[in-house]
Amino acid sequence: MQNYISLAQIDEIVQTIKSRTSIQPIAGIILGSGLNGLADSVQKAVHIAYADLPNFPVSTVHGHVGRFVIGELEGKPVLVMQGRIHYYEGYTMGQVTLPVRVMQRMGIPSMIVTNAAGGVHPDFEPGDVMLITDQINLMGMSGLNPLMGPNLDEIGPRFPDMSQPYDRAYGELARSIAKENGITLREGIYVGLCGPSFESPADLRFLRLAGADAVGMSTVPEVIIARHGNMRVLGLSGISNKANLDGSTVTTHEEVIEAGKVITPKVEKIIRGVLRDM
Ligand code: HPA
Repeated sequence: MQNYISLAQIDEIVQTIKSRTSIQPIAGIILGSGLNGLADSVQKAVHIAYADLPNFPVSTVHGHVGRFVIGELEGKPVLVMQGRIHYYEGYTMGQVTLPVRVMQRMGIPSMIVTNAAGGVHPDFEPGDVMLITDQINLMGMSGLNPLMGPNLDEIGPRFPDMSQPYDRAYGELARSIAKENGITLREGIYVGLCGPSFESPADLRFLRLAGADAVGMSTVPEVIIARHGNMRVLGLSGISNKANLDGSTVTTHEEVIEAGKVITPKVEKIIRGVLRDM
C-alpha cells in the first residue's frame, strides 16, 4: 500500500460495506482492548471482517477481533469497530485512522471511542472509567500526525482547529448517565503514545508533569481525523492498571484484558445512555 490513502480507496471500502447493508449508522463506535463485549449485543447485526474489505488493515492484537458490526444498539443504527488498528502493529497513521475516514464517507456524524489506559492520576484505580476531556498528541508532536500528507479537502481543511477534540455536550450527557446509574465517572486528559512497550517510571513521571491523567496507545490519531471531518466525539478510557510511577509493579497485557471485564458493563451503560439521546 502507498503511504497515503486516497479518497478513492476509502470510497471503495464504503461501497463494499453499502453492498452488504442498507443501515445508515448515526454513530461509529471504536472498542478498545478488552472492551469488545459490547459488539456482541448489537441487534440485527451484519458482520463484515476487515479481511473482506479492500485496502483495509487487519488488527493483529490479542483481545481484538477485527470486524465491523453494523446494526442497532438501543434501537439506534450504529457501526461498531470490534478491534482497532494500532500504530505499533506496523501500520501507517493513514491505515490506523482509515476506519474513521470510512465513517466520514458513510456520512456518520458522531464517534464514540473507547480504550484501555494506564491511570496516571494518583487517585485512579483499575476498573475506573474516565471521561476523556482533552488529549495530548505526543505522537503528533514527534512527527506522527495522521493528517500529514496530501489534505483530503473534500473532508476538512489543511489546518483544522482542535480547540474541542471531545464534544462538551456529549461529555455532559455521559456525566448525567453515569450519575443516574451510580457509576463513578473519572475525568481527565488522555495522552497517546506509540507503544507497544509500556512506559518506564521516568516516562510516567514526565507524562504526569505534562498534565496527563491516563496513558494509552491509541485514540489520539483517530480523534484528530474525526475532528478534521467535524465529527462530534465522545471518548471513554477504561483504567486497566495504575501507572507504575515508582517502578514497584509490573504492567502486562493480561491485566489490561482482565480489567476490561469490570469496565465493559460500565462503559456499555454509558454508551447505551448516550445513544438514546443522540
Ligand atoms: N500504558 C499504556 N497503554 C496502556 C496501559 C498503560 O499502562 N494500560 C493499558 N493500555
